Amino acid sequence: MAIAIKTQDEIDRMKVAGHLAAEVLDFIAPHVTAGCTTGELDRMCHEYMVDVQKVIPAPLNYAPPGYKPYPKSICTSINHQVCHGIPGDRVLKGGDILNIDITIIKDGFHGDTSRMFCVGEPSIQARRLCEITYECMWKGIRTVRPNSTLGDIGAAIQQHAESSGFSVVKEFCGHGIGRNFHEDPQVLHYGQRGSGAILQPGMIFTIEPMINAGKAAIRELADGWTIVTKDHSLSAQWEHTVLVTADGFEVLTTSPGMPNPPTL
Ligand code: MF3
Ligand code: CO
Ligand code: CO
Repeated sequence: MAIAIKTQDEIDRMKVAGHLAAEVLDFIAPHVTAGCTTGELDRMCHEYMVDVQKVIPAPLNYAPPGYKPYPKSICTSINHQVCHGIPGDRVLKGGDILNIDITIIKDGFHGDTSRMFCVGEPSIQARRLCEITYECMWKGIRTVRPNSTLGDIGAAIQQHAESSGFSVVKEFCGHGIGRNFHEDPQVLHYGQRGSGAILQPGMIFTIEPMINAGKAAIRELADGWTIVTKDHSLSAQWEHTVLVTADGFEVLTTSPGMPNPPTL
């Protein structure tokens, strides 16, 4: 399938959706504290999205082929959970690292972004994993410009992760996004420079590397959604929705509270 080139009107709506998704992360950040449950974080985000922002939480009842409907409004993935963790009764404790992944629908268009959060003072290793994964996302983003390739993104991410002693999860990838949650292309977080589709202005996709402190292998839990590392090593992920512009890229999932890009 061809990669859609968004019109200016679609791009404008995607910017609105992107900002709204990022603002949910700003909203929830001060609540990510020891003693709080992931279910409480889900409820607070749900109410903020539905009652304050008047947007639709895209994960709720999302059911791609082969999956049962996702039961909550956000994803919360703790420690060795790689992605798609389902909020519930689990209580956050000091030293946990947590990914919160927010996808909203505004005016028919999706915004998708996630950040890592530290509860108390995680280990040096855990904090380094979060930081290197953030750098990986940005190294991927910074390759984006007209006539670069999807492989350039993956190669930049894989190079930084593996040279830091970490591994890249291969089974899940970034994705085109627009009126659909997941569209073409698949944006792999590994690969060869110069390979894959050539980028053109107006393409919009996510970059969302999942990086493991140990081996790359993963498995799915019996809930049908939660992905964990097979070796129980820690995993981290960051995600932005990115537009290819005439002279480079624009991150659409920006907000006042987002962390600064790294100085690399
Ligand atoms: N937000 C995830 C992504 O970045 C997808 C979550 S699907 C869900 O693609 F159903 F688990 F929410
Ligand atoms: Co995504
Ligand atoms: Co996401």
